[in-house]
Amino acid sequence: MRAAYITELGPADAIRVGELPTPVPGPTDVLVRVELVVVDPVDTLVRSGAYRTPTPFPFVVGRDLVGTVAEAGAGAAGFAPGDRVWCNSLGHDGRQGSFAEFAVVPAERLYHLPDGADPVASVAVLHPAATAYLALFRHGRLRPGEIVYVGGAAGNVGGAATSLARMGGARVLAGARPEDAEWCRAAGAAEVLDYRDPDLPDRLRALAPAGIDLYIDTSGHLDLPTALDLLALRGRIVLLAGSAQRLTLPAGSLYTNDRSILGFAISRAAVGDLAEAASTLNTQLAAGTLPARIRDVWPLDRAAEAHQAVERRVRGRIVLRAGPAGA
Ligand SMILES: NC(=O)c1ccc[n+]([C@@H]2O[C@H](COP(=O)([O-])OP(=O)(O)OC[C@H]3O[C@@H](n4cnc5c(N)ncnc54)[C@H](OP(=O)(O)O)[C@@H]3O)[C@@H](O)[C@H]2O)c1
Repeated sequence: MRAAYITELGPADAIRVGELPTPVPGPTDVLVRVELVVVDPVDTLVRSGAYRTPTPFPFVVGRDLVGTVAEAGAGAAGFAPGDRVWCNSLGHDGRQGSFAEFAVVPAERLYHLPDGADPVASVAVLHPAATAYLALFRHGRLRPGEIVYVGGAAGNVGGAATSLARMGGARVLAGARPEDAEWCRAAGAAEVLDYRDPDLPDRLRALAPAGIDLYIDTSGHLDLPTALDLLALRGRIVLLAGSAQRLTLPAGSLYTNDRSILGFAISRAAVGDLAEAASTLNTQLAAGTLPARIRDVWPLDRAAEAHQAVERRVRGRIVLRAGPAGA
């Protein structure tokens, strides 16, 4: 089968596209004929070694896929050849990735693609929307009526967080460029604030006089003292980006107000949590309600170029077709 893979950790141009043996599914696995994949920022970190995780070589890159069941193991209940499916947890922790004509997926990590879901729009949101769901509800314990600030709200995770928080009954204050305000409002933001405005903290205080219940910043530029001071009593910060940041913690602001800071990486999510996120995502995929910016759809042959583009932080998702010869 054709696959995009690496034989050692390194830069994007180390990704080769060529023939590898078609993988053989175990009894509780499903062999998926892959249609579409997408590059997530974390894929570049796994490929380079910046995020350390077992990567048996030759290692097929990529975390997400949309495809069709080719073969289901005897213990892979609920899946049959021809089913449209998706996965968002391959390509790390020893599992081979998704950038290939075929991928073996443990049945517990595979979900049906709902009828009517647009496959390109779906593959674009699988990772960011599951991240947003778990950050908001599993770790952030967001409840209806609460106020959430989403930093980087015009981005992949931020847009999904805005949308899912609104659907969960929260009031969303979004940080984004003014030119992205309409997009953020369409995603569900009640208010959009320019993240470069020096008066941003005061504006947030005016909009949330009793404080922000949940603060999620996807930009990797968290100002922790300011964010902590903006929190309500028992407010939470979910920290999920900016791994190189060294943050200053005002201890009194944290503990005298029962506030908390929670670290979260979806790579550590239990299969039960991923399945819970998938169930919510499927409702939204069927309705087409999750915001997605599709930058381009490329053939698999351009996998290295797609990694380079994500490393340059291009805006919008680069989806790749994994069919024969990258068709
Ligand atoms: N922990 C996890 O499980 C997990 C899962 C998925 C992703 N992530 C991480 O989450 C981050 C976001 O991923 P993504 O795919 O959503 O990226 P993205 O689409 O590039 O979004 C990043 C957002 O941050 C904004 N931003 C950049 N610099 C900023 C600044 N100085 N102040 C405020 N906002 C700023 C960008 O706004 P502009 O467009 O205006 O520049 C953009 O909207 C990445 O670091 C990724 O690795 C973590």
